[in-house]
Amino acid sequence: MEHGLFITFEGIEGCGKSTQLKLVADDLKAKGCDVVTTREPGGTVIGDQIRRILLAPEHKNLEPLAELFLYAAARAQHVHELIRPELARGKVVLCDRYVDATRAYQGAARQIDPQILERLIDVPTGGLMPTLTLILDCPVEVGLRRAVTRNAQHPTTKEDRFEREARDFHERVRLGYLAIAKQEPKRVKIIDATGSVESIHQTILQEVDRVVHNSRA
Ligand code: TYD
Repeated sequence: MEHGLFITFEGIEGCGKSTQLKLVADDLKAKGCDVVTTREPGGTVIGDQIRRILLAPEHKNLEPLAELFLYAAARAQHVHELIRPELARGKVVLCDRYVDATRAYQGAARQIDPQILERLIDVPTGGLMPTLTLILDCPVEVGLRRAVTRNAQHPTTKEDRFEREARDFHERVRLGYLAIAKQEPKRVKIIDATGSVESIHQTILQEVDRVVHNSRA
């Protein structure tokens, strides 16, 4: 039984979710919450090894099904080794991407059969879902422009396998996310990610404060 609170951040490349996750972590820590931040793929030593395979630009011929299984493998490790134990300790776990990324990227964009996809989500997670998922939404050109600027500021960061995908791939990812929010409006909130970092942060905090408050009630 989990006592903590599980919150995930999602969105297309360059939507700003990682920046916002850090700001939420700082804010919750300042309010006295015990916060753990993590990401997918990754979050564990084994998961980070799998992440390297998944993002390497030279792995151009990675099969969509192989890709799906690798995300599922990294997630099985992550849920077992980190997420469930930290929730059991009562922590607030903030995770940069989780199952909705699989639905948007491997489902909506790569068009893997939904039944296979949902099995490959259900098995590694054992049905563990976030209490709150924030999808930072912005037009694809805005996100990709930010991702290019970010890479330029970090000369050692290469464009990854996903950033190399065509524009319509990212459009499908975005639509995939919007469809998830429509299907699960209680869990999933769309956040307009075109404003300033500070205004987006304030919008997100309202959602986060609501679930933190409810979890303690
Ligand atoms: P990352 O560098 O973390 O990208 P970002 O900063 O945009 O989150 O790389 C993660 C990539 O993996 C990203 O392109 C989305 C993709 N991904 C999937 O395709 N399926 C998944 O289940 C997850 C967790 C991520």
